[in-house]
Amino acid sequence: MKKLRVAVIGCGSIAKNRHLVEYENNPVVEITAVCDIVEERANKTAEKYNASAYINYLQLLEVEKIDAVSICTPNYLHAPMSIAALNAGCHVLCEKPMATTAEEAEAMIEAARLNNKKLMIAHNQRFVPSHAKARALVEAGEIGKIFSFRTTFGHGGPEDWSADGADSWFFNKEQAFIGAMGDLGVHKADLLRFLLGEEFMEVAGFIETSAKENADVDDNAVCILKTNSGVIGTLASSWAYNSQEDNSTILFGEKATIRLEDDPQHALIVQYTNGEIVKYELGQIQSNAEGGQTNSFVIDHFIESIILDKEPLINGEEGKKSLEVILAVLDSHETKQIKKVQKAVLEA
Ligand SMILES: NC(=O)c1ccc[n+]([C@@H]2O[C@H](COP(=O)([O-])OP(=O)(O)OC[C@H]3O[C@@H](n4cnc5c(N)ncnc54)[C@H](O)[C@@H]3O)[C@@H](O)[C@H]2O)c1
Repeated sequence: MKKLRVAVIGCGSIAKNRHLVEYENNPVVEITAVCDIVEERANKTAEKYNASAYINYLQLLEVEKIDAVSICTPNYLHAPMSIAALNAGCHVLCEKPMATTAEEAEAMIEAARLNNKKLMIAHNQRFVPSHAKARALVEAGEIGKIFSFRTTFGHGGPEDWSADGADSWFFNKEQAFIGAMGDLGVHKADLLRFLLGEEFMEVAGFIETSAKENADVDDNAVCILKTNSGVIGTLASSWAYNSQEDNSTILFGEKATIRLEDDPQHALIVQYTNGEIVKYELGQIQSNAEGGQTNSFVIDHFIESIILDKEPLINGEEGKKSLEVILAVLDSHETKQIKKVQKAVLEA
C-alpha cells in the first residue's frame, strides 16, 4: 500500500513530543515535509525525520504533494492554515483550541466540506483509557442519572513546555486569544460533552490573570456549566497549580460516583452507593512533564479515518461545539452575566 504523505506545520513541543513521534510509529505514514518560521527548528526537525524543511507553509503546500497535515502552531494560525491546507487538497488534523472565533471554526468546517477532506481536532482527552471507559460506563447506565461533575486541568504553566519558554506566544493575547481556558479548559469542555453525552446550555465564568506577570491572557479560570437536561458542575483551568498537575474529573450519579485521574494508582475509581468500590488500573494520563500522550491514539484515529473514509470522532463540528463553551465563558466573564452557549450548539 502506498504510504500517506504527511506534513507537520509548526515544529514546537506538541509536534516534537506527539505528532511527529506518533506519525513515525504509524506504518502507513511517511513524514514528507515540516515547516516552522524558526528556520533552525524546521531544519533540525527535517533532518531527524528525513523530510523537507520549509519556513513558509504556503510554499510547502504548493510544492509538496501532501495527503495529510498536522497544524501545530499558535492558536491564531489554526484557521488560516487549516483552510489553506484543506483547499490544497489535504486532510487536516488541527490542534486545539480549533480556532479563535465560531466564525473561523465554521469556515474551517465549510472548507473541509467543499474539498471533501477530513478535519479532525486534537482533543486527545477523549482517547485517554480511563475517559473512554467512563463513557462506556455512563452509556451502560452504570452510574444512573448524572447530577453533577467537577473537572480540573491545571499545571504550573506553558513556560516549561513551549519551544519559546517564558517568551512563548501562549502568554500573548494576539496569538493565543485565550490563556489557560483555551490551553486546558477547552480540553475539559470537550471531555465533559463526551462523557455526559449532551450539550451545555448555560455558563458563568470567573477569569483572572493573577499568576503570570508576562501574560495578557487568563491564567486562572473557574466556571459553572449547565447542560440541556440540568446537570450542573464546575470546570477549572489554571497555570498556577505550581507544585503538581491536576487533571481530574469526577462525575456524581444516582448509583455511583466516578473518579477519573484522581488517584495516583487507579485511573478510574467507581464508588457505588451500596459501599462497593471498584478500582481500575488503566494506565495513567500522561502529563506535559513526561512529554505528553505518546500513545498514538490521536494520530492513529486520524489516519484510520482517512484510510477507511470514516468521519473522525472529533470532527470540525465537535471542535466547534467545545470551543463555543469556552467562548461563552469568556463572554460571561466580560459581561458579568450568565450566558447561553451558541444557539447552533443547542439545536444540534
Ligand atoms: N492536544 C494537546 O494536549 C496540546 C498540548 C500542547 C499544545 N497544544 C496545542 O498545540 C499548538 C502548538 O503548541 P505547542 O505547545 O507546540 O507550542 P510551541 O510554542 O512549543 O510551538 C509552536 C511552534 O509554532 C511555530 N510557528 C509560529 N508561527 C509559525 C508560522 N507562521 N509558520 C510555521 N510555524 C510557526 C513556532 O516557531 C513554534 O516552533 C497550540 O495550539 C496548543 O494549544 C495541544
